[in-house]
Amino acid sequence: MVSVLEPMPETVTTSAAKAEATAIHIADVSVSYATKKKTRKTILNGVNLEIADGEFVVLLGETGCGKSTLLRMILGQELPAAGAVFVRGKKVERVSAQCGYVPQKYSLFPDRTVMGNLIMGPETSKFHILGRLRPEFRAFRREVKAEALRQLQHMGLHATDADKYPHQLSGGMQQRVAIAQALMMKPNVLLMDEAFSALDPATRTSLQRILRTVWLETKPTVVFVTHNTAEALFLATRVIVLAKQGVNGQDGAKVALDLKLPETGMSLKRNGQQFLDLVEHIEDASRGSAVADESTPSPEEVL
Ligand SMILES: Nc1ncnc2c1ncn2[C@@H]1O[C@H](COP(=O)(O)OP(=O)(O)OP(=O)(O)O)[C@@H](O)[C@H]1O
Ligand SMILES: [Mg+2]
Repeated sequence: MVSVLEPMPETVTTSAAKAEATAIHIADVSVSYATKKKTRKTILNGVNLEIADGEFVVLLGETGCGKSTLLRMILGQELPAAGAVFVRGKKVERVSAQCGYVPQKYSLFPDRTVMGNLIMGPETSKFHILGRLRPEFRAFRREVKAEALRQLQHMGLHATDADKYPHQLSGGMQQRVAIAQALMMKPNVLLMDEAFSALDPATRTSLQRILRTVWLETKPTVVFVTHNTAEALFLATRVIVLAKQGVNGQDGAKVALDLKLPETGMSLKRNGQQFLDLVEHIEDASRGSAVADESTPSPEEVL
């Protein structure tokens, strides 16, 4: 006999499967900060998003609309004033290894070599200082170093770069290492905040391709913040635009556009009419002049 207090087995399976399939659930998240005038400034105002496992979401929006703030909420670096964020069904209450994070620059430890930076995460998450005296630590370290070399190669770097320090690398090389570092922890979710913005155009294009390949191979859920609409359309399976609401944005930002692209979205001919239509639509939404309603064209209409 099934007790009324116990959920039906199907219900458990269904909700567990749903939690698995929903990589990130942003549930009515609001954020505000105290100002010098002792009032509060609303940054995010009731943001709701469900991001499925394996989606490549690109987050766009004008400067100051709260993109980095939203990323910090997913990462667990900060908690929302209202609402909650769930990663794979678990409420985010602190930073955890299930999210990898790549900021715009300066994320490597300057006093560690490339190899030292890459192995640090796996080592500290698996062995505390005293545990490193245990015999199995040596085998573990060998494995982690081999994985670090594989990741470096994947990012287009050489084994000889492993012994260099961050200051001996170009900005592009440092970002390659930073991505490799985030991937070392095999995160379910990869958060990238303008990670390519400081790079020259050729390096940026090369890293976009590498990231695209990594995503196609292992399908992590990615949330990628950028100001570059062409970059967004090249990488994304889904484009989300945040835009401030109210006079001078005093009501905080909401989702102004949520556009799913077919996988073929990246094969759009740059500067073709469909590409230009999408760029215009996204940029309108960023300025807050478009609201996601029936006037939003479906990807099929635009592509
Ligand atoms: N810890 C904080 N204390 C006070 N205000 C903050 C804090 N963090 C962010 N803000 C404010 O919140 C707003 C949104 O900041 P956020 O960095 O998320 O914007 P953004 O969309 O990432 O902008 P950008 O495109 O320039 O990077 C800004 O007005 C910023 O000044
Ligand atoms: Mg930002």
